[in-house]
Amino acid sequence: MSDTSPPGDPRGAGDSTGLRRVLVTGATGLLGNAVVEQLLAGGTEVTAVVRNADRARELLPDHFALRLVTGDVTDVRTYADALRGMDAVIHTAAYFREYYQPGHDLELLYRTNVAAVEELLKAASDASVPTVVHTSSIAVLGGGDVRSPGDEGTPNGAPTQDNHYRASKIRAERAIRGVEDALRERYGARYGLRVPLVLPGWMWGPGDAGPTSAGRLFLAVAHGAVKALPAAGNHVVDARDVAAVCVAAAERGDAGHRYIAGGSWYPLHEICSAVVRATGTGTVPRRLPAPAAMPLASLMEWQAKARGKEPVATRTGMRVLLEGDRRRVSSARAIRELDIAFRPLDQTIADQAAWHRARRQLPAVAQGTRIA
Ligand SMILES: NC(=O)c1ccc[n+]([C@@H]2O[C@H](COP(=O)([O-])OP(=O)(O)OC[C@H]3O[C@@H](n4cnc5c(N)ncnc54)[C@H](OP(=O)(O)O)[C@@H]3O)[C@@H](O)[C@H]2O)c1
Repeated sequence: MSDTSPPGDPRGAGDSTGLRRVLVTGATGLLGNAVVEQLLAGGTEVTAVVRNADRARELLPDHFALRLVTGDVTDVRTYADALRGMDAVIHTAAYFREYYQPGHDLELLYRTNVAAVEELLKAASDASVPTVVHTSSIAVLGGGDVRSPGDEGTPNGAPTQDNHYRASKIRAERAIRGVEDALRERYGARYGLRVPLVLPGWMWGPGDAGPTSAGRLFLAVAHGAVKALPAAGNHVVDARDVAAVCVAAAERGDAGHRYIAGGSWYPLHEICSAVVRATGTGTVPRRLPAPAAMPLASLMEWQAKARGKEPVATRTGMRVLLEGDRRRVSSARAIRELDIAFRPLDQTIADQAAWHRARRQLPAVAQGTRIA
């Protein structure tokens, strides 16, 4: 870490990344746009693969070193040419937020989260790209609790059908090992692809245009639209800190190593209190016992359907939330080996509030209300 980094800016804006050219997938996403910003701030030329160039222009900085390539990761041919000459690829694109909404497409989920990763690795190897950083998730870990937090050595859980998103991320990790083995066999000593993996916790922060489940909950709480939530918690991490892990992993992450970027565990009511403090609006939802969580999610889905809106939470999302309640992980390796620090929750939420406010997504603050 730079000695001159301001507190809460682990990388330090403007620190050189040591990477000349990087291709980023999922650049319009919560993590991807933070990766793009950090790379540009570090003097790296960035090629961003995006599905919708107009949307990308709206969300990403207008910067001379940023080039947009319209492509779809489920068809590597749409962006394979752009891989040539890259020092690294940071792969953040995934079928993620869509899975937590009704009517998700499981075939597309596995195609995006598993098959597309295999195709990317093969194409990157063909184009002599030395490094591909893959984004996995702490959800893949099969263990880790308060007494013994999970770490990079914790074996993955089984890719069971109760959570297809998690299953896809577990399968992707397996598929990566399979592609690496096959390429090693084909190229022997000439094989040189380095594939570090980053495992984020539940990401929050500015730039959540999707929005993901975090942005959705943020806005619902700020608008006072959530009356109750289960007394549960999760590992919350600022997407910008995960981006710093991705960039550091691209620079110097070990081949095949996993890096957990889990931030800290917070109860939901603390997260919601931070939202209410930062926005000066909304109310902190009442705490419900965990068994009430699934009926509550059913009710939210039903109400949203009746109003023709997207639900704040679904049963699928609630199940994942409850699983995360027990999970604890350690990010010690990323802190030690990649020199990463994690921002405090209040800073993440305050910056996210400012981002939503700038987009006029927050309700008006009552006169005389103090905003944290
Ligand atoms: N958010 C979390 O809490 C969390 C936690 C653990 C792991 N992760 C992982 O972290 C990564 C980033 O997640 P995120 O939170 O940034 O998600 P996000 O905001 O939903 O962003 C996903 C990005 O992937 C792009 N994308 C999806 N399908 C694509 C396709 N077929 N071709 C090209 N681009 C495609 C999306 O493009 P559009 O803008 O066009 O939709 C978007 O830019 C993912 O791998 C996710 O699984 C996320």
